[in-house]
Amino acid sequence: MPKRQTVFTCGQCGHRESKWLGRCPECGAWDSLVEEALPTRTGGRSRPGAHRAGRLSGDGAGGGAARAVALSDVVSSSEERYSSGIDELDRVLGGGIVPGSVVLVGGEPGIGKSTLLLQALDRVGRDRSVLLVCGEESAAQIRMRAERVCASPGAIRVLPETEVDAVLEALENERPELLVVDSVQTLYSDALSSAPGTVSQVREATGRFLRFAKETGTAVFLVGHVTKDGAIAGPRVLEHMVDTVLQFEGDRNRFFRVLRAAKNRFGSTNEIGVFEMSESGLTGVGDPSRLFLPEKAPGIGAAIHVAVEGSRCYLVEVQALVNKTELALPRRVATGFDRNRLAMIIAVLQRHAGVPLSSSDIFANIAGGIRVEEPAADLAVALAIASAERNVPLPPQTAVFGEISLTGEVRSSSQPERRFAEAAKLGFAAVVTGSGDARRIGKSVPSVTGVADIRSAVAHVLGRARRRPAVTAGESDDGGV
Ligand SMILES: Nc1ncnc2c1ncn2[C@@H]1O[C@H](COP(=O)(O)OP(=O)(O)OP(=O)(O)O)[C@@H](O)[C@H]1O
Ligand SMILES: [Mg+2]
Repeated sequence: MPKRQTVFTCGQCGHRESKWLGRCPECGAWDSLVEEALPTRTGGRSRPGAHRAGRLSGDGAGGGAARAVALSDVVSSSEERYSSGIDELDRVLGGGIVPGSVVLVGGEPGIGKSTLLLQALDRVGRDRSVLLVCGEESAAQIRMRAERVCASPGAIRVLPETEVDAVLEALENERPELLVVDSVQTLYSDALSSAPGTVSQVREATGRFLRFAKETGTAVFLVGHVTKDGAIAGPRVLEHMVDTVLQFEGDRNRFFRVLRAAKNRFGSTNEIGVFEMSESGLTGVGDPSRLFLPEKAPGIGAAIHVAVEGSRCYLVEVQALVNKTELALPRRVATGFDRNRLAMIIAVLQRHAGVPLSSSDIFANIAGGIRVEEPAADLAVALAIASAERNVPLPPQTAVFGEISLTGEVRSSSQPERRFAEAAKLGFAAVVTGSGDARRIGKSVPSVTGVADIRSAVAHVLGRARRRPAVTAGESDDGGV
């Protein structure tokens, strides 16, 4: 194969050089030059984007000058989605696999990316042609995993190849409907001199698969490695190129995993998929609260948050530890939610609820290793911290949710009715939330208390006196509903 011409482009300013330089002569950025293959002018017009015209009714995207088309002439592919056979994956994808889409699946080593996609290949392979490009593991290793997690592994075709041109050539004959590339970091193009896994190689490989997907209608799943080291290309480099970015996360030492969409051109990014990892592979979890709630009643420094993510509603335990410290700069550690949000909540608790925290180390944690992103978790974090500081537990069977503003107000959250219903379903006797949400009470929960601000919330849940035994719910003087 003839060598393609390459150029080194600055990732910061777009300046081009014919050879690699440590520093961009244009903008002065260090180590920003990335090798790129120049597009070949021969062999037809296979630019990215040509596929759009290729899906026109009645007309192909033949040679000649590019021309614009009316949107009404473009054939919509919204009806073409098909199921991956895994409900949790379908949910996160926005309702199934879209033909011609490129999905990047990122996640820590060993989290289960290969397992999940192998299971999807197994299910889809029952009535469609599927293919796995394995650069990372040998076909024998994949067979071992398939015997463990697949019901009918025979339908999965495997291509152990890492040179992009060779892979694409093989794909011309195979023409699968679903293609999994595991992983994109192992692929390389002969046209580039850099090593596999470098930014330029990963970008080139992704670009080629993107073109292939759009031209053939094959859905492509690319496995991408997450690395903290900027020298090796992680999925971030590719996020703009692909249609959907899925993140597979969770604590490797535990058995459950959460799949989220960081970007999705074909669906919401609020949805999460929850899986349990076992010897027979990943199984979807329909009722995540079961995994995240503690077995016994939460003690001092714990609060139960009612979370909503997309179409899922579940309860999680928020834990806090408050310890006096001699350090001039006390430690503030958040696990499972945003650190800046923790700093804000601590400041609001001090300023508006009079909880003295300035000389204490504070650790806050979402139990179970799950990450909660919604601001509605503020109230649970605040009450867990206040409980830890006062050494008083929250009343038993009480769940909370609500966003806290900088003025100390407890604000409304999305879908309060669903949260009330979920808390009731799991046997919680009381819910504490913002006054606005409490007015929209469902009949399902025996006691819903609305609090206007964080001071009332702390007073209602923990009582007014410092370090006294737990109070019972319902003695509120703050406008309980
Ligand atoms: N026999 C087994 N029983 C239970 N769980 C297993 C078994 N074998 C593997 N696993 C689980 O599968 C995980 C590995 O899954 P997988 O290879 O799909 O991860 P990955 O995300 O593709 O990792 P990598 O980035 O290294 O390719 C292990 O961390 C373990 O949790
Ligand atoms: Mg893997």
